[in-house]
Amino acid sequence: MVQNKKTTTTMAKQKAGKGIKAKKGSTAGKVVRNHSLRWSDAERKALAHSLNTLLANYQVHYQKLRNYHWNVTGGDFFDIHENLELQYTEAQADIDMIAERVRVFHERPLSTFSEYLKASTLKEDATVPSSTDMVKNLLADYVTLVDRMYETVDLAMGLSDAGTERMVKGFIEQIEKHHWMMGAFNK
Ligand SMILES: [Fe+2]
Repeated sequence: MVQNKKTTTTMAKQKAGKGIKAKKGSTAGKVVRNHSLRWSDAERKALAHSLNTLLANYQVHYQKLRNYHWNVTGGDFFDIHENLELQYTEAQADIDMIAERVRVFHERPLSTFSEYLKASTLKEDATVPSSTDMVKNLLADYVTLVDRMYETVDLAMGLSDAGTERMVKGFIEQIEKHHWMMGAFNK
């Protein structure tokens, strides 16, 4: 459908609401947003908040992977030690993508462990469990992480945020695979 200039401008105004104001020196009738991209302030803050909650949970999980990687003992040592290195390397990359996605929305990614512990549903583990319990604890972490990821995906889809949706769906696939493998390991 071909739209004339007047119709396009009106639609843009309706869509962006308060996020639009005339740019100084711009052509009359031309509008720009206060921020980049396509979301209102409330929408980008909601997306950043959801991403920060996921970031906090992922950081707590990441540190648990390191703890178990370092401290595992017994007959499963090589299996657990090596597999957790793969997992924390993957988690590290995911965490970086989440934090940088928060910056896309012009917000600050949570960056300290005190903030992570406050915002995270997952709890840290200060103990050194048996290898069997390590796997059990990680299985529980995966469930919580995937729940957080679906919350972020649902929000992103509701706001037509294709970038966040695609990124987090990829994480879901990874974590679901770990859930299968670690579950099979502990059978
Ligand atoms: Fe290592």
